[in-house]
Amino acid sequence: MTVERRPLIAGNWKMNGLAADGLALARALAAAPEGAADLLVCPPATLLAPVASILSGSPVALGAQDCHAREAGAHTGDLSAEMLADAGCAYVIAGHSERRAAHGESDAAVGAKAAAAHRAGLVAIVCVGETAAERDAGEAEAVVAASLLGSLPDSARPGNTVVAYEPVWAIGTGRTPTVDEVAAVHAALRAALGDRGAGMRILYGGSVKPDNAGALLAPCDVDGALVGGASLSAADFLAIAGAA
Ligand code: PGA
Repeated sequence: MTVERRPLIAGNWKMNGLAADGLALARALAAAPEGAADLLVCPPATLLAPVASILSGSPVALGAQDCHAREAGAHTGDLSAEMLADAGCAYVIAGHSERRAAHGESDAAVGAKAAAAHRAGLVAIVCVGETAAERDAGEAEAVVAASLLGSLPDSARPGNTVVAYEPVWAIGTGRTPTVDEVAAVHAALRAALGDRGAGMRILYGGSVKPDNAGALLAPCDVDGALVGGASLSAADFLAIAGAA
């Protein structure tokens, strides 16, 4: 049986965007005609509330880039999934490789964040990806499948979880795996998901640009993209969405 998975094109603005640029970008996306893909933007936390009001009534969804596992408490500087939902988010990224590397987030910590997202009614975008050394050693598929299974809480379902395959060496570098390599990893992730796999969206991320999006999004197990740098340009982001 073939399961329809509508593509999702998600923009991760990372630590970019002051109000002037970020709100203009959000306005441009909110005004764009609806296409074949679902659109999501994940601005920095400072812009969540104003971007939420710009996107309200548009088909573009709002997400955050990280959350704490707890609901509230003495965690200076952190934001709970409930706070993000309260600010208008429908999604939150969990376990982006930049957070895994710079903040020491383990698979278990990522799983706790994804569980927190589910508790708050958010869709968790759970990120996994291999290093260049792991790929060179022929371990990419095994490494990402194990990382995914270690990062998914029991509460993960196709309706509340999106997987993002992001090779660490492809993020922000302009380098990408071949289409065959992407297809092989996505098929391995789909298989690792077992019963949950058929309906769960698996995005590719890492140097997705308008000129490579059509090829990278073509394999049947690729259900969209997580876009960093190119999501800071409305034209580029919408061109990627148009290729989905
Ligand atoms: P990039 O980032 O598109 O700039 O490579 C992707 C990501 O980190 O999600």
